[in-house]
Amino acid sequence: MSREAGSPIGRRRALQIGAGAAGVAGLGAVGVALRSDGDAGTVSAYPEPEYGDPDRTYRLTASEHEIDIAGGDSYDGWTYNGAYPGPEIRAVEGERVRVVVENDLPEETTVHWHGMTVRGDNAMDGVPGVTQEAIAPGDEFVYEFDAEPAGTHWYHSHVGLQLDRELLGPLVVEERNPHVEYDAEHTLILDEYLPEEPRVETADGMDGMGGMGGMEGSFPGAPPASGTLVNGALPSDPAEFEITEGERVRLRLINAAAATMYAVGIDDHRLTVTHADGPAVDPVTVDTLEIGMGERYDIVVEGDSPGRWPIRIAPVDSVAPAGRAVLAYEDATDGIDEGAIGGHRLQYADLRSLAPAPGVGGSPDRTIDLELSAGGAMGMMGGSGDDGEWTINGQAFPDADPIRIQEGEHVRVRVRNRSPMRHPMHLHGHHFQAGDVVKDTITVPGHMGQVEFDFVADNSGKWLFHCHHLYHMETGMVRIVEYV
Ligand code: C2O
Ligand code: CU
Repeated sequence: MSREAGSPIGRRRALQIGAGAAGVAGLGAVGVALRSDGDAGTVSAYPEPEYGDPDRTYRLTASEHEIDIAGGDSYDGWTYNGAYPGPEIRAVEGERVRVVVENDLPEETTVHWHGMTVRGDNAMDGVPGVTQEAIAPGDEFVYEFDAEPAGTHWYHSHVGLQLDRELLGPLVVEERNPHVEYDAEHTLILDEYLPEEPRVETADGMDGMGGMGGMEGSFPGAPPASGTLVNGALPSDPAEFEITEGERVRLRLINAAAATMYAVGIDDHRLTVTHADGPAVDPVTVDTLEIGMGERYDIVVEGDSPGRWPIRIAPVDSVAPAGRAVLAYEDATDGIDEGAIGGHRLQYADLRSLAPAPGVGGSPDRTIDLELSAGGAMGMMGGSGDDGEWTINGQAFPDADPIRIQEGEHVRVRVRNRSPMRHPMHLHGHHFQAGDVVKDTITVPGHMGQVEFDFVADNSGKWLFHCHHLYHMETGMVRIVEYV
């Protein structure tokens, strides 16, 4: 008996395989691998998987589950293994990872490994209708991929608005030789507090969307968040991250919010940025940084100022209340101190990746120009498309042409923004080079802002390129990049 990674299998069949396993070579371990993990909130790693021998095997069960926000309410959300944020998936760079995803939701789902190149494994990318058929309720799907590149990544549902029902979790790939030293590490998942069921809202005019109040038309967006969470906690019962005086702690920041960018700073401490979207950068020390939806930064903080200091998470272009966690020195007494935060905010131009994306020197073989805009009334700003849509070159996905590229090409993408909002644009299956930094998600500034990035087409398949504002994505700001 053999089962390829990627083959959907019905729950019933999985249970039969497990039940009939005794005494039949090769089946026993499958039964073990498909056993249900009763311990909600933990990931079960199975020591001896039988088919294909990955280095790590995890199981994620997506189901409706109560989410209990520290300092807030309990509400019915959707989770992996009953936990929000979902359980950490961790591997060492280069290892083969298998994740068995079981769908206990009332609707279909998939999981995308945000930041994993999934080289040679396009079918493992988790995009419904593009790289796989969505996993039906009651079914399972076996994902497998190489843990590359190293760094801080995450996983999330790629179906509809499920990300905003909290189907998300961290995915950490440890480097074999880190270029910075640190004594401890913590992962911080930044997110909106949104106990209601997510739905696309339509705002009239541009109020709250960059200060262009009074314009005609309607613009699809997110429901207003009622707060900012760090690892599922509000400021009234904040998440605490320990640091020891004289030591260095690495903080892995993940913006998992559907629709909010955040500015991050820590009272009385500076932030040394060491990694951007996974890969290492020349360490650069700043006071604050902005992180768009889908982006990750790793920072190292020096333990040189004992106390209990706020880690401040301020929503950008949003009226949602700020989030706060605590950087807590061992032995510091209760309460939270107040200190100062300096004024140097990280810019993309400050970032220099240690290993540039290969093959992107010189001039590109192909340049692709893309314009981001809102349909309808925004047409007067150079866009087209219908009211209630966000478009790329006037087209709203799925009624949009694929972007065709060829294996081996050096591709340059120039993205211009004809809307007032910022858009964090994410390319699946590749890390690209923007200036001196290698990333997979890059925020295009509002009001005619522009970014340009290069990559070599070295991973054939069909890959999504989209805005990581979930509600822009849901209403059309998506293209398929297809190798021909
Ligand atoms: Cu993090 Cu296409 O997504
Ligand atoms: Cu957007």
